[in-house]
Amino acid sequence: MTQDEQKQAAAEAALDFIETGSVIGVGTGSTANHFIDALARIKGKLDGAVASSEASAARLREHRIPVLELDSTGDLPLYVDGADEATRHLHLIKGGGGALTREKIVAAASKKFICVADQSKLVDVLGSFPLPLEVIPMAKSYVGRQMVKLGGRPALREGYTTDNGNFIIDVHDLEMLDPVAVEERLDHVAGVVSNGIFARRGADLLLLGTPGGVEKIG
Ligand code: A5P
Repeated sequence: MTQDEQKQAAAEAALDFIETGSVIGVGTGSTANHFIDALARIKGKLDGAVASSEASAARLREHRIPVLELDSTGDLPLYVDGADEATRHLHLIKGGGGALTREKIVAAASKKFICVADQSKLVDVLGSFPLPLEVIPMAKSYVGRQMVKLGGRPALREGYTTDNGNFIIDVHDLEMLDPVAVEERLDHVAGVVSNGIFARRGADLLLLGTPGGVEKIG
């Protein structure tokens, strides 16, 4: 089974958790895209979806799935999204696709967060994947200096602007043995809109595509 087939199998396994007549949150990235494509097959069951990015909203609309605004839906029963890294404690790094802030908002507003991923995303300790920070443009140098003080190696994602008009700084080599503490610490750096650690509100369930089938963690 290829990595992409593992992503697809995990994404399709999440369909079982959708309740008829619900509005669900939908994430961003190649695994989330498999989920959106699978949703198209059962779209009669859904009242609509809240997207965590303009790209996912466009893909949902291509399948004629109604895209709703979180402001008008209230809290959601379910959010399904991928991750760049995941642990068995259901802590995640997200934001490789740059959509981390909206992803964090939709995850926070959802009762259940199911993370869908291929087996390569499972790690013992977070941090090999550089940690994305969404940063207010005028703060980029200041935030970079703070990351160096914390032992990290910041790299501005060149030529990239988020859906919210901000920049992404990818921070390499940050120690993340206590992801909850690091997430909180980074949230208090002026100019950081959000960071890609999802530990305080991690996933509730990880569906991991493996060559032997979909493993459920959580
Ligand atoms: C998007 O900003 C990310 O958080 C994605 O969830 C993450 O990058 C996973 O992407 P893939 O499903 O493409 O691996």
